[in-house]
Amino acid sequence: MLKVINVVGARPNFMKVAPIVAAMKRRPAKFLPLVVHTGQHYDSAMSDSFFRDLELPEPDTHLGVGSSSHAAQTAAVMERFEPVVLREKPDWVLVVGDVNSTIACALVCVKLGVKVAHVEAGLRSRDRTMPEEINRLLTDQIADLLFTPSQDADENLLAEGIPRGRIRLVGNVMIDSLQKNLQTARARNTREQFGLSGVKYALLTLHRPSNVDLRESFERILDALEVIAAKLPILFPVHPRTRKTIAELGLSARVESIRDLLTVDPLGYLSFLNLMSNASLVLTDSGGIQEETTALGIPCLTLRENTERPITVEMGTNVVVGTDPTKIIATAMAAMNGSAKKLQYRPPLWDGKTSERILDALETFVPSSR
Ligand code: UD1
Repeated sequence: MLKVINVVGARPNFMKVAPIVAAMKRRPAKFLPLVVHTGQHYDSAMSDSFFRDLELPEPDTHLGVGSSSHAAQTAAVMERFEPVVLREKPDWVLVVGDVNSTIACALVCVKLGVKVAHVEAGLRSRDRTMPEEINRLLTDQIADLLFTPSQDADENLLAEGIPRGRIRLVGNVMIDSLQKNLQTARARNTREQFGLSGVKYALLTLHRPSNVDLRESFERILDALEVIAAKLPILFPVHPRTRKTIAELGLSARVESIRDLLTVDPLGYLSFLNLMSNASLVLTDSGGIQEETTALGIPCLTLRENTERPITVEMGTNVVVGTDPTKIIATAMAAMNGSAKKLQYRPPLWDGKTSERILDALETFVPSSR
C-alpha cells in the first residue's frame, strides 16, 4: 500500500489532482491518497467551487497560507507543510504544475528524504522573468519522478541533464478532467445565464503579472479588446488579482466603457468549460487554457510573448500573439473570418488515461533507476 500526499494550492492545480485522487480511490488495495490544500488560493470562486465541480475530496489538511509576497508565501507553505509530512510519513508526495505551492512542497520533501513526483514536468517558456518558470526549473531538478505531458518536455529535461530513468511520458492529466466533465458541463445553462445563448462570443482570461500589473501593457491589451468587442462580444471572468490591479491602475472606467466587454466574477470549472467549449474564440494568458482549447478544437490566442506549451501551437489551435494590439486584432479578425488555426491532430497521450499511467508508474518505480 502506497500512502500518497496529493498537494493542491492554486486554481490550476485542482483539475490536475482530481483525476489522480479518483484513480487512487479505484485502487484501494494499492493506494491511500491524502489531499493537502496549502490555501494559496482561498476564495470560494478560486477554490471551493472547484472541489465541488471536480468531486475532489475535502482536504485532509488545510495549511491556510493565503496571499503574500512570493518569498513569504513560499516560506509559509514550507513551514506548515513540513510537520504534516513528518506526521503522515507518506511513501510519496505528489505535486502538480508550477505554482509557488509546487516548489515549496517539493523542497520540504527532498530535504526530509521523502519521495516526490512532479506532474506536468518539463514544460519551459525559457522566460525566467515568469515566477512559474523558476518553479518549474527547480521542482524538476529535485523531484524523484517526473511525469511529462508531451515529448518536448522530455527533451527539455534531458537537455538539463536529468537522467532518463526519472522521466515518464504519461500525457496530459488535465485532459482526464476535461473528458470526464465535458458532457456535464455542456448540459449546463451557463450561456443562457450570461445572455449568450445562440450568440457568437469570445472568452477572455488575464492574470499574468506582465500583462495586468503594468498600466502600459494592460492598456495595450484593452486597445485590442475594444476593437474586437465591436465585432464579437467578449465575456471576461476577472481573476481577483486582475480585479485588484484594474482598480489600482485607475483602469475601471476604461474597462467599463468598452461596449460588449462583459466582466464577471471568476467561474467554476464546469461553467468555464461550458463557455469555452461553445466559444468562437478564446483570448488568454493562462497556461492550461492553451491546452484545453487545443483538446476542444477551439481557436486560442495567447496574449504572451512565449509559451511553455509549444505542442498546442505545433499540433493544436493556439497562436502566440503577444501583446501588440495590431497583431492581436489581425489574428482575432482572421479567426472570426473563418481562417482560424485548425486542430492538426490531438497530441499523443492526451486521451483521458494519464492518471492511470501515473499510478502504474508509482506502483512500479524502483529508486535505483534514478
Ligand atoms: C497563481 C500562480 C499562477 C497561476 C494562477 C492561477 C504562482 C507563482 N502563480 O497566480 O501560476 O496561473 O495562480 O490563478 O504560484 N487572490 C485572491 N483570492 C484568491 C487567490 C488570490 O483574492 O483566492 C488575489 C490576492 O490579492 C493575491 C493575488 O490574487 O495577492 C495573487 O494571488 P497568488 O496566488 O499570489 O498568484 P496568482 O496571480 O493567482
